[in-house]
Amino acid sequence: MHDRRVLVLTGAGVSAESGIPTFRGKDGYWRNLDPAKLATPEAFARDPKLVWEWYRERRQRIRNAQPNPAHKAIAKLAQHTQEFLLVTQNVDDLHARAGASKEKMVQIHGDIFVTRCLRCHFQFRDTGRGGSPEPPVPRVIYPHSGRLRSIAPTSVQHEQEQKDIPKCSKCSALMRPGVVWFGEQLPWGELRRVENYLEDGPCDFVIVAGTTATFGYIVDWALRAIASDGELVEVNPEETPLSQFATQRVREGAALALPRIVDELVISRSSKL
Ligand code: OAD
Repeated sequence: MHDRRVLVLTGAGVSAESGIPTFRGKDGYWRNLDPAKLATPEAFARDPKLVWEWYRERRQRIRNAQPNPAHKAIAKLAQHTQEFLLVTQNVDDLHARAGASKEKMVQIHGDIFVTRCLRCHFQFRDTGRGGSPEPPVPRVIYPHSGRLRSIAPTSVQHEQEQKDIPKCSKCSALMRPGVVWFGEQLPWGELRRVENYLEDGPCDFVIVAGTTATFGYIVDWALRAIASDGELVEVNPEETPLSQFATQRVREGAALALPRIVDELVISRSSKL
């Protein structure tokens, strides 16, 4: 069992080569504003329209982007590994569009295509478009059942939502993007899924790619997963707090490095994975 467990932790660097700016990189700034100051409950309370404009632009950029070889390599590793979990800090849908299944993936900082009410439990999800010309189809999500139901907004309603701040159709409160902002709690259910995976036993292989590992829980999960003798591979052109613990450091872009790492793992260790 020990030999068949893999954990992959990813951050913004994995989507960088798909044209999605990282948070802390030089392209992360939007209209001269620091994303770390926009992605906060305080920024939304002060200027919800501005924050929505930023998220709408990011959604559009993601819809027009394509998964890169790093996303595809991770999806391939998931398919070839019996016990596998991908924990991504990315709110885009590029891992999913590359083929990573929902069962094997946790989006620990939420999903940018979800819009949720500030007051009640109402939320819906716009599907990512993946560059297709059709308008996205909003879907209602019932948080307790997890089931989806399509809704068909009128074009007037949809146009209005593009200009304004969306309002909840159940209680009229403001709606916000379904992402985790600085200073907020991680979603309990997703957190539980990560903890369950770690509690089930140590991993023999952990890959951490494209993240500054700023948050203590990312470092903690990687170190708990390798326990005493697992391998930790870090893919990042820059040094991070995890670098000192890595058994292998790959200072290349994820789109170049991950297909090679995954192929080597899948081929040379196919009897183990
Ligand atoms: P950051 O923007 O902080 O860091 C991106 C990391 O990717 C850096 O360490 C880069 O060196 C690395 N990188 C850049 N290009 C790369 C490439 N082509 N291949 C591999 N690595 C590359 O993004 P995250 O660490 O993901 O949270 O940020 C973590 C969280 O902080 C985000 O999820 C977000 C942010 O604030 C919240 O919004 C709560």
